[in-house]
Amino acid sequence: MIKVAVLGYGTVGSGVVEVIESNNAEVSAKAGEEMHVSYILDLRDFPGDPYEDRVIHDFNVILNDPEVSVVCEVMGGVGAAYQFTKQLLEAGKSVCTSNKELVAKHGAELLEIARNKNCSYMFEASVGGGIPVIRPITKALTAEKIEKITAILNGTTNYILSKMEKEGAGYEETLKKAQELGYAERNPEADVEGHDACRKVAILSSLMTGKNVDAEKIYTEGITGISPADFDYARAAGMTIKLLATSEAVEDGRVLAMVAPALVSMGHPLAAVNDVYNGVFVKGNMLGDVMFYGRGAGKLPTASAVVSDVIDCARHIGRSSIICIWDREEAGLADVDESRKCFFVRAKASAREKAEEIFPGCRFVECGRAEDCGFMTAEMSEKEFKEKSSAMGDGILCRIRLA
Ligand code: HSE
Repeated sequence: MIKVAVLGYGTVGSGVVEVIESNNAEVSAKAGEEMHVSYILDLRDFPGDPYEDRVIHDFNVILNDPEVSVVCEVMGGVGAAYQFTKQLLEAGKSVCTSNKELVAKHGAELLEIARNKNCSYMFEASVGGGIPVIRPITKALTAEKIEKITAILNGTTNYILSKMEKEGAGYEETLKKAQELGYAERNPEADVEGHDACRKVAILSSLMTGKNVDAEKIYTEGITGISPADFDYARAAGMTIKLLATSEAVEDGRVLAMVAPALVSMGHPLAAVNDVYNGVFVKGNMLGDVMFYGRGAGKLPTASAVVSDVIDCARHIGRSSIICIWDREEAGLADVDESRKCFFVRAKASAREKAEEIFPGCRFVECGRAEDCGFMTAEMSEKEFKEKSSAMGDGILCRIRLA
């Protein structure tokens, strides 16, 4: 029997127990032995819950039970979750997690401990929720040199932008609706400011380079400055606006990673990723393009990804099933200021002539708005764009990069 413990009985934790119990025949058959949830660690009690008898409050019970071989860390955060994970791996127990913050911050170290202790640290659910992304990248695309990842990695912001596009609604009212529906947290900062997508792209970048990409060093912008007017111009140009997380292998083994809203052509597959769905578009040097699409958040999709890792661990008891390379050595990040792009600019109507002067060759987009004007620039470096923008004085209302 595979005895499993779950740390944290919140949304994902209760989903993990539900997946293991509801799909027990399938899960056990695939694990090769019957799988059983023995402990659920939480600070709270859950009177009336069908699994209340398994709820415990003392972590040491799990740590010291030699029969527990796989633990799901779904409590979140980088405090107790980090300490518990380290102790479990040191004790030779495999850990499966959805905790992207912890994976992004300490992934390299935790993988190293797991390898040394012949167990596994698995994190399929940390990126793209229920979408298989980590396993395909680390186990199926192993012959590839991954050149670029372009992804929609946050369901909350994708829901907000999709609604703004379809309904012409403003950012604040759409955020409120997302909160009412339970998609956005009461404090939505991590999602809307791009930090959640940043942690996820840091994980993907680390797997892409084999070195540690520090999330705190990734240039990150959120969606709070996007307005219905920007969608009017995007629509007229045959485009939409998405919060894109990108990571590209550039010269000298460095990586150019960033999170920012971008104008995406309606013909691009990521333009069709709407609502709370996520999409991950990967370019390999031999394979070319491949895309992963599905539910990037939610109780059961995320729990399903955690349990897929538990099954992987169960099949490798006594040895590590990790095959990814993610060393502690820091990956070099390319300077975003030197990267080259085209930009969409929305400017005051009165600034049109000045824009033509400062951005020679710019292409205006007409969408019937009198209060402002919108144009696409020629390709230039971020640094050059910043210089030209300051020459525009207060004429620029918004700027969005083109994907
Ligand atoms: N808040 C995240 C999102 C949850 O909206 O995508 C999944 O990581």
